[in-house]
Amino acid sequence: AVERPAEGLKVVITAGPTREALDPVRYLSNHSSGKMGYALATAAAALGAEVHLISGPVALSTPAGVARHDVESADDMLAAAERLADDCDLFIGCAAVADYRAEAPAEHKLKKRDDEDAMTLRLVKNPDIIARIAARDTRRPFVIGFAAETRDLERYGRDKLTRKQLDMVVANDVSRAGLGFGADDNAAVLLWRDGDAIDRDPQPPQPKSRLAEAILRRALTRLAPLHHA
Ligand code: PMT
Repeated sequence: AVERPAEGLKVVITAGPTREALDPVRYLSNHSSGKMGYALATAAAALGAEVHLISGPVALSTPAGVARHDVESADDMLAAAERLADDCDLFIGCAAVADYRAEAPAEHKLKKRDDEDAMTLRLVKNPDIIARIAARDTRRPFVIGFAAETRDLERYGRDKLTRKQLDMVVANDVSRAGLGFGADDNAAVLLWRDGDAIDRDPQPPQPKSRLAEAILRRALTRLAPLHHA
């Protein structure tokens, strides 16, 4: 028989970048390809879960058996996350959400000005989606966040675990060639609270599909006791 340890669980995953409009034809974004989040969705479905994938704009096809919800901005992603998280067991924030958006996106295409060599763009903070989900008093799923860092990986990862009240953090070094943003492989340190201590599971460079399964299996060992309580 095929092993389906996530049968009966509803999993919500955010993936890809967000796009923050500057005007009708321009936006602020980042290099997330969606590969890591889509690998998690594929792995969760293969383990038997009901999977909802909230996806920023990416060039990937929808994994079989996964319900995909397309969004553009962080605000759109937050709305979809709040709605889908209500009755979910596991929420994974893999999206590279833009931390800031334009304070006032222009209604018409911004014109180049011949009389000015510089232009100032005022940005305002976007909502922190995963922190909102993790701060819920009721209907709070098990929450896994990612930490994309270019230095002091584990220190910042631990900091995000505590500050955003997450149950697990996948800390990945996005400065290493061939790993992280856009790559097919990734490496990470999984971090979770164990009483007052923080436990860790370092994962070497490997295909994102394999890392996704390791993350889910680790989460299931923490989640299963809660679920069957
Ligand atoms: O998409 P790929 O090309 O496969 O690349 C994968 C990846 C490198 C994007 C992925 O592995 C990853 O690290 N995703 C998180 C990227 C990120 O934005 O990290 P962060 O450290 O800025 O954010 C920390 C956590 O808070 C993340 O779970 C993020 O989804 C969440 N967040 C951040 C800001 C915000 N406004 N809302 C959020 O929910």
